[in-house]
Amino acid sequence: MSHARIARVGFVLALMSGSAIAGGKIAPAPNGIELPADYKDWKVISVAHRTDNNTMRAIVGNEAAVTAARQGHTNPWPNGAVLGKIVWKAVIDKHWDKATVPGEFVHVEFMVKDAAKFAATGGWGYARWKGAELKPYGNDANVAQECVACHTPVKSQDYVFTRPAPLP
Ligand code: HEC
Repeated sequence: MSHARIARVGFVLALMSGSAIAGGKIAPAPNGIELPADYKDWKVISVAHRTDNNTMRAIVGNEAAVTAARQGHTNPWPNGAVLGKIVWKAVIDKHWDKATVPGEFVHVEFMVKDAAKFAATGGWGYARWKGAELKPYGNDANVAQECVACHTPVKSQDYVFTRPAPLP
């Protein structure tokens, strides 16, 4: 193969992968919040298991949230903190039937702290992406209303249910 030909093949491959990335980009939530690109690498703040809909959750945070959680600065959480909740169906471990482990991915959702920008919704922006295809949840920019309504019982702890799990 000539150098020119190799260069052309490389160029076409670059174009193809470029378009795959553009085509595969996850759409933002209807209120404009973007899926945090690196959320899979965030650290754990706590875990939860819901018995009514049989799901398990990891509550994770970006750097600002994890630092605040470790230092106990969670009421209020600082601006810039982002909390993520990753939800899976709870299933029985096929090798150990007393163990409950994550099954199918259900959704991932976020609370983004910016007291000024999100003043109308208690200082937090809310967004959720559903299913393996990460489809943005909600029909319009008011998607957060439903979230805030359910998080209001914990207004006295800055609208956040999760308390950082003890880590000696
Ligand atoms: C029916 C009530 C309800 C609604 C509606 C709801 N949440 Fe929550 N949310 C909870 C509860 C309860 C927890 C804590 C237990 C858990 O982890 O499931 C929680 C936890 C969270 C957490 C982890 C931080 C925390 O507060 O513990 C995030 C992030 C979150 N919710 C985002 C959202 C988003 C985004 C929406 C709207 C799209 C939403 N929630 C709607 C009840 C609700």
